[in-house]
Amino acid sequence: MASETDDLLRRLTGLQEDAEKAVAAADGSKSLEAVRVRFLGRKSELTSILRGLKDLSPEARGAVGKAGNLAKSGIEEAIRAKAVTFDRVGRVSGDDPTLPGIRPPRGHRHLIAATLDHLIDVFRGMGFSVARGPDVEDDYHNFEALNMPEDHPARDMQDTFFLAPRTLLRTHTSPVQIRVMESAPPPIRKVFPGRVYRRETPDATHSSEFHQLELLYVDRGVTMRDLKGALGYFARQVFGSETRVRFRPSYFPFVEPGAEVDISCFQCRGKGCRLCGNSGWIEILGAGMVHPSVFRHVGYDPDEVSGYAAGLGIERIAMLRHGVPDIRMFYENDLRFLTQF
Ligand code: DAH
Repeated sequence: MASETDDLLRRLTGLQEDAEKAVAAADGSKSLEAVRVRFLGRKSELTSILRGLKDLSPEARGAVGKAGNLAKSGIEEAIRAKAVTFDRVGRVSGDDPTLPGIRPPRGHRHLIAATLDHLIDVFRGMGFSVARGPDVEDDYHNFEALNMPEDHPARDMQDTFFLAPRTLLRTHTSPVQIRVMESAPPPIRKVFPGRVYRRETPDATHSSEFHQLELLYVDRGVTMRDLKGALGYFARQVFGSETRVRFRPSYFPFVEPGAEVDISCFQCRGKGCRLCGNSGWIEILGAGMVHPSVFRHVGYDPDEVSGYAAGLGIERIAMLRHGVPDIRMFYENDLRFLTQF
């Protein structure tokens, strides 16, 4: 049995070597195609070995299957690499400068990066600058300083990946608020983009990695009106000039009062449709006035300054704006999807 496997593995190695030699010797696209048919075609030895896998013992099938697929992709790659050395009429390119060049495929930015940049631009227009914090956080910045002490039930709202007892992958971009305020006195007017991590079971609207943009504005005399003004402007820039915003009271430990913010549905203009679940409104972010205990943690005096904070999910915004039905499509790297944007 073992010797049969060894024999097959040896044949595969030999085949790949022979194929690579034949590819190197091919002097035009016709002869290269002949090499492809000989080594990868339906009647090739490789194909017959792969077809015969089903008759092998399970262990042999694993080893031979793996080696067979490797040999196949190795030969395919050699053929591809050779093919680009031919010109349009299938001859080996010489140094003829009058022949057209080979146009390399052009990449473009991922929809998530483009959405993030667009949002950042909107906030730059309002005087915000950008700061970043680490993906690997400690308990203090991710929870405690944000008014979520140990055993606080709100910790359960964000299932956490722990790397060590007090070290974790940040569950939101809010800890960057703490880092920025620790390192500079007010006033602060910044946005914090970044990746966040949660122990979620992936489905159409959940992923264990996604992106957020956090807003923080702290100064003397900042009020909820400033927050409403800023978010209204943002919503009109991103979702169209007719867009209205609505604040619903909600609870986040690090703000008081806290709100969930909805925009009027840009598809039905508030009449009710499938996108907005017939309510006319779509939830897009969480926001509120920075809690006094957060200020105390960073050494700001809550009697002197006030501020607002907000956090929004980038994937959610991109899905809404572009009608993407499933969050997982952003990470599958299927070019048929990505090149649409
Ligand atoms: N950090 C919250 C989350 O990820 C979102 C959030 C809510 C951020 C309210 C804020 C805020 O700054 O004020 O669920």
